[in-house]
Amino acid sequence: MASRPAQALPLDIDVEERRAQAQLLAWYDRQAADLPWRVSPQAKVRGIRPDPYIVWISEIMLQQTTRAAVIPRLTRFLARFPDVRALADAPMEAVLQEWAGMGYYARARALHGAAQILARSGMPSEVQALQALPGIGPYTARAIAAIAFDAPQAPVDANIARILARLHAMSETGSALRNRLQAEADRLMARQRPGDWAQALMDLGAKICRPIGPDCGQCPLAKMCKGRAIGPEKFPASARAGPKPLRRGICFFLRNSKGEVWLERRPNRGLMGGMLGLPGSPWTEEEILDPLSCAPAPAPWRRAGSIRHTFTHFHLELAVMAKQEDCTQPSLAHFQQKACPGLDPGCSRGFVSENAPIQGLRVSDPTKSGSDFACDPLGEWIAIGDWQRAGLPSVFVKAARLASTVDFAAQITAEMIDGL
Ligand code: ADE
Repeated sequence: MASRPAQALPLDIDVEERRAQAQLLAWYDRQAADLPWRVSPQAKVRGIRPDPYIVWISEIMLQQTTRAAVIPRLTRFLARFPDVRALADAPMEAVLQEWAGMGYYARARALHGAAQILARSGMPSEVQALQALPGIGPYTARAIAAIAFDAPQAPVDANIARILARLHAMSETGSALRNRLQAEADRLMARQRPGDWAQALMDLGAKICRPIGPDCGQCPLAKMCKGRAIGPEKFPASARAGPKPLRRGICFFLRNSKGEVWLERRPNRGLMGGMLGLPGSPWTEEEILDPLSCAPAPAPWRRAGSIRHTFTHFHLELAVMAKQEDCTQPSLAHFQQKACPGLDPGCSRGFVSENAPIQGLRVSDPTKSGSDFACDPLGEWIAIGDWQRAGLPSVFVKAARLASTVDFAAQITAEMIDGL
């Protein structure tokens, strides 16, 4: 798409890479994903520019959950806070309320803080100024600069990292890998269309250069991909040498009489940080001594079976326990143990109490708890099958699908209960 005259490309791009660049952009021009925060390449040619406010909010939400889950959330957020002034003027409680269900409330607070600054000064287009704003790190600053302003910046998210590591069959790990990825992203960037280039790579990673089962036959970059012949799934290289260890764990599928399942927010740091998951035990290579102590409701539990899943550093075997409860909230003891050890049942920080509202999802209500609200809500009731909207990671989707097959009407037999 000849939207603007091509600028000179950096000299260290060779002919094959230049051709691959053009092919990826042409692929993006044909089939860019239709996303509410995105201006299509065709619309850009007509002079429509992305709204930096929308790009910013979408990038923050996309750090928290999947594209599919962000689409309705962003639409709702923008209906309530259509521009940065509306966001800055809104009470923090309203922003937290709108963020509810997405977790990691620190992000919503940072968003509100940054809006106070941006309402006065406008959104900067330079990476350094963007990075000085609350809640904006190096990746987000580059993404906003490239996507909203077509600044020559190359954000590297997980999708882009995977593509680049495969293209160059990178064997590095850790910080050496990160440095090389950024250097390579900077070098390979299509300077005449940095925003489209970044988004084309994001789409390529989501649709074709997938973590498992990449569709190399359809890849516009296949000709220059060194990883393809070696085995693309070997890249990025795992930091661990040798076989991956096997970890085991147990998770609990607690279903209420309304056909909803209890999901819990994972800690912000660590694997799948801040995302929703089924409650359960830690995943370890050692034996789990008292697995039922991690259950969100008392026994009896019925064993649905187990699933296997592979992460970058380990294989997981996850036992799945299922239970149907008429009650519509998990046990208080579970929350006191998990979230606020030592807190009284009437915990004023908003965690579940015996008479907590049973409608909807939250065990904690950021809009009601006022100044002493300190923790993110722990969990939500989600309708069975509504996994995409919840942004549930695939390991838990597998487990939930298995547990959904349990026949709760059948008699519970001795071997089904308690045991693992
Ligand atoms: N993932 C992160 N940022 C994205 C964007 N701007 N478009 C699509 N997927 C993304």
